[in-house]
Amino acid sequence: MISQNSIAQVFETARVEEVIGDFVQLKKAGTNYKGLSPFSEERSPSFVVSPVKQIWKDFSSGKGGNAVTFLMEHEHFTYPEAIKYLAKKYNIEIEETERTDQEKAQADTRESLYLVSEYASSYFQNVLHKTNQGKAIGLSYFKERGFTDETIKKFNLGYSLDEWQGFTDDALGKGYQINFLEQSGLTIVKGEKRFDRFKGRVMFPIHSMSGRVLGFGGRILTNDKKAAKYLNSPESEIYYKSKVLYGLYNAKQSIAKEDNCYLVEGYTDVIQFHQTGITNVVSSSGTALSPDQIRLINRLTNNITVLFDGDAAGVRASIRGIDLILEQGVNVKVCTFPDGEDPDSFSKSNTLEELTEYLNENAKDFIQFKASLLVKEANNDPIKKAETIRDIVNSIAKIPDQIKREIYIQECARIMDISESVLFTTLAQINNKQTQDNNKPKSYISSNSSDPNEPPFEVFRNEESSRKPKVDVQFELEKKIIEILMLYGDKTEQFDDLLLQVDEASGDLIAKPTVVETRVFEKIYLDLQDDEMQFTNPQFQALYYAIMDKLNQEVTFSTKNFINQLDQETASTVTSILMEDERYNLHDWERNLIIPKEKDHSVSQLVSQTILTLRCHLIDKKVGEYKNETLNENADLRSIMEDVKEYVGLKMLLSRKLGKVIG
Ligand code: CTP
Ligand code: MN
Repeated sequence: MISQNSIAQVFETARVEEVIGDFVQLKKAGTNYKGLSPFSEERSPSFVVSPVKQIWKDFSSGKGGNAVTFLMEHEHFTYPEAIKYLAKKYNIEIEETERTDQEKAQADTRESLYLVSEYASSYFQNVLHKTNQGKAIGLSYFKERGFTDETIKKFNLGYSLDEWQGFTDDALGKGYQINFLEQSGLTIVKGEKRFDRFKGRVMFPIHSMSGRVLGFGGRILTNDKKAAKYLNSPESEIYYKSKVLYGLYNAKQSIAKEDNCYLVEGYTDVIQFHQTGITNVVSSSGTALSPDQIRLINRLTNNITVLFDGDAAGVRASIRGIDLILEQGVNVKVCTFPDGEDPDSFSKSNTLEELTEYLNENAKDFIQFKASLLVKEANNDPIKKAETIRDIVNSIAKIPDQIKREIYIQECARIMDISESVLFTTLAQINNKQTQDNNKPKSYISSNSSDPNEPPFEVFRNEESSRKPKVDVQFELEKKIIEILMLYGDKTEQFDDLLLQVDEASGDLIAKPTVVETRVFEKIYLDLQDDEMQFTNPQFQALYYAIMDKLNQEVTFSTKNFINQLDQETASTVTSILMEDERYNLHDWERNLIIPKEKDHSVSQLVSQTILTLRCHLIDKKVGEYKNETLNENADLRSIMEDVKEYVGLKMLLSRKLGKVIG
């Protein structure tokens, strides 16, 4: 674990505008910076970075946060990865907290394996570019394949000398230990003898999502029929085949941006696609996608397009694995290439425009594709057709979303020319079987479904109206209070107040205007307590206590430090609240009238006005509740009327106060 101390130091040092500036072109706009959203395609900038608040907000995607959240969103780093990245950028030494001996040994092993692999990768690249053998054999092979220098560098391609222990000797000479060389699979140890696993092969390093070298693929260059064309690193403590996707490091941003991931068979397909200009592409290296790999993609997009070579047998074999992708709720398309072509050869012999057009025109929804394929095969053979129906419905049954399942049933009925009810019955049978199998009641069938997670009308909801935010006064006001506390909570201000006094002459209770000096958070705390006001939004409520706590303990309140201590979700809420202003500036939206514009008023006016508005709102709500009660037959009308009168009186008093504050 990274020590709290180091984390604090990283946060202290990192400047959000500098961190983001490495990825997004930022232009100064007032006190802020603006740029094009890196999370969506847009022409006018809606991405705002505030150097003062040390936060960022992307109004086109709704994302926002601090420097660390940016790296997590943009680079898809985990939290520790983001901290380590920043530490490196700012030359901060990371100290790790104490771990058990076992943890230490494990971490040391992993770290050593990373180091060995990293070294091997740079060694193989060096051999490729700098040695005679590398240039004559390795580099000329890549050139023959049509890879440019830029491509070769981008994928860190290399060459392993055609010598029994060229790499091993070199690495040992540099001080790398034989047991890590062996564990990483780079060296094969047989008794006293040591061999380079990848002797005489061109090398494809395999990177993690954050760019560390985990293992290698090596392609043979001779026509030796007995030797495997491709050799891969064995699994190790850092390399689990089922958890890695080749090309993901170079593809992650465009996968998120394009909201689609192309899945191809191997290294060369990925690389050639990149060179042609399509970068949202990964390979699972020959095997069917594992659930872990699907989850990796799923962090970036919900859409996968599987690309098949042009031979029919290959397609038949690959289709099975796709049910697994459907099961994860991912939308799957498939695209085949003309006979004899694979993604590599096709992208090599076509321009970007041609390739893009081909993919767009030929990518078909998987279920439709499978149905058409099966129909062709069954050809009027009734027994085969029955099998076919089961096969396709099996795939449909894997889809978690009920609406989608129904649509597919209708679609397949049309393609296969059978009635929907046959398909629905088959689906029910399959589900019954599954239900018995896992003893979990699951209703997959249609209209009267009682699955609580799947509101059957979801699909028909009017998108337009459900997206337009309805103004929730209470929510806005609670939010405003949080904002005020964050920005001005520690300030001391003078507040106008009314002091209730007994008038000496008449004996009446009168309100006497007075000025009290107090800290903003104390004023808010006392006022809200007066009204026994509770936040209705649980997140605001929790934040309120957290901020109050901090303000009580510390003389100065730092928004930045505060945000950095919050969990990611809460930090994102706070960021949104603080960036609200920027949003209005950005889109010049009509600001709704509930919230006072702070720029025109002093802090104390802003505070008083917000609290009074909230009080008035609460009273309105109360009065509304009473009105509802009068509809009840047994209601005690008289007592209700009295309560309402009292509240209305209170509201008038408050409105007067409010008028004064505004004035
Ligand atoms: N592949 C593999 N293991 C094999 C064969 C292929 O991992 N034994 C993967 C590789 O990642 C390769 C992809 O499948 O990039 C395509 O296979 P293939 O066309 O046979 O490899 P190429 O290197 O393109 O060979 P060729 O030049 O003969 O087309
Ligand atoms: Mn090939």
